Amino acid sequence: MNREEQFQHLEHLRQEARLGGGEKRIEAQHKKGKLTARERIDLLLDEGTFVEMDMLVRHRSKDFGLDKNRPLGDGVVTGYGYIDGRLVFVFSQDFTVFGGSLSETFAEKIIKIMDQAMKVGAPVIGLNDSGGARIQEGVVSLGGYAEIFLRNTLASGVIPQISAIMGPCAGGAVYSPAITDFTVMVRNTSYMFVTGPNVVKTVTHEEVNAEDLGGADTHSSKSGVSHLACDSDVEALQTIRRMLSYMPSNNMEDPPRVNSTDDPMRIDEALDNLVPENPNHPYDMKEVITSVIDRDSFLEIQPDYATNIVVGFARVDGFSVGIIANQPASLAGVLDIDASIKAARFIRFCDAFNIPLLTFEDVPGFLPGTHQEWGGIIKHGAKLLYAYAEATVPKITVITRKAYGGAYDVMSSKHIRGDVNLAWPSAEIAVMGPKGAAEIIFKKEIANAEDPEAMLAQKEQEYRDKFANPYLAAERGYIDEVILPRNTRVRVIQALHMLQNKSDSNPPKKHGNIPL
Ligand code: HXC
Repeated sequence: MNREEQFQHLEHLRQEARLGGGEKRIEAQHKKGKLTARERIDLLLDEGTFVEMDMLVRHRSKDFGLDKNRPLGDGVVTGYGYIDGRLVFVFSQDFTVFGGSLSETFAEKIIKIMDQAMKVGAPVIGLNDSGGARIQEGVVSLGGYAEIFLRNTLASGVIPQISAIMGPCAGGAVYSPAITDFTVMVRNTSYMFVTGPNVVKTVTHEEVNAEDLGGADTHSSKSGVSHLACDSDVEALQTIRRMLSYMPSNNMEDPPRVNSTDDPMRIDEALDNLVPENPNHPYDMKEVITSVIDRDSFLEIQPDYATNIVVGFARVDGFSVGIIANQPASLAGVLDIDASIKAARFIRFCDAFNIPLLTFEDVPGFLPGTHQEWGGIIKHGAKLLYAYAEATVPKITVITRKAYGGAYDVMSSKHIRGDVNLAWPSAEIAVMGPKGAAEIIFKKEIANAEDPEAMLAQKEQEYRDKFANPYLAAERGYIDEVILPRNTRVRVIQALHMLQNKSDSNPPKKHGNIPL
């Protein structure tokens, strides 16, 4: 070959690789409403920044006629590029090649970029669309998965890892996304399950389709496996870009601060009347969040799962923060198993990646009942306590109303290293609610009273007047300041600035033993 022929040969190979499984399969992919592996990468990354690696890799399998079908790239597109000018690594499974199934060489390509990402401290984004282990290869494919799982685990807390599920993701393959920090799913085209509808039918006799068993809505509302459900590939990719904007590239960096156009001195008088006079009436904690953070900066995570707690990323005076908020508008904001797990995992992500925690608290306590007790609310609630207690990032808490019992301690209280603990005048900080308290400590008086109901009401009021306020906690310094609701944004911004150079650490250890 002369020089020109050499160059043409290379271009020919590249074109072949770019076609993946060929025009027909690309068409079939589009017909299902899915983009191809390469189209997804182009939409995910800043335009023209993708640098592909291992485009010319071919598998080495010989069984079942595979030696006669050795497509370039082997079903996964890997490389690096930039999102908002920041380096990221990406792999994108190509369903048009062997159904995106994972072979030994396919796994090697993913492993290569994961190792590289760890060395240079950049996030890894996995776009999943795969029929699972390449069946013709057998155990080497399983080995490939395990190598990826190992790297997912070692990279956890070092670089952000985000998974998009944009097609099938079944069997053991689900465990890679499950270890990563966030999983985004696409409605109607993606599903995740350990065993599919056919196996479910055989084993449990349940009739269920793939979407109901493991689709985006199922995992975003019922199981909590997915963090966000999107309507299309495009929306999922844009969501990932946005999510990354709140995170540092690795655990040694701080998250990027953006220029905020929202006035840091903005006060909001509407907050003064947000909490209803009747302590049993609900209100929407999202109104507090929206008022305090920079305009339009909230990216809620798991909005449809355990709605009694709200978590998500936001910006406050341009600083990235993780919001954790009890939601009185859902189950009175009570802490249950799902809410505890949801918030605990989010807190640990923020702490691992130097994102300050901003907690809004209105919690009547932990949810009573056999369902919760037998489900292990003790160990699951302990996860939330553990996550808050071990977190060393700046921790700011605003108590808007109820902070009762163990839930007071758990929700980033002063005693577990809360840095700045603020309360509104409507705060009720006590061992338990006034009614329950009166029933216990005035049991005899109520029983012996001529009118027990009236006596209970009187004792409840006495307890409320004495304890259901923020001032006993403030006397002790458990609350740093009782603030007017309207000033919450200003106070939170002051605290965030003060805490910018906070440094705190935990005792040296191999790792803690969070109650799993
Ligand atoms: C090899 C596969 C494959 C696989 C699909 N293909 N899955 N090739 N290994 N795992 C091939 C098909 O043969 C077909 O090739 C092409 O990909 C497209 O597949 P279709 O079946 O035509 O597509 P569709 O109808 O959309 O169905 C998609 C699917 C189905 C639901 C994913 O292909 C399927 O059920 N695949 C098998 C899933 C599975 O059981 N995987 C192993 C799970 S165990 P042609 O040439 O005909 O177009 C596992 C363990 C992981 O993954 C463990 C990790 C610890």
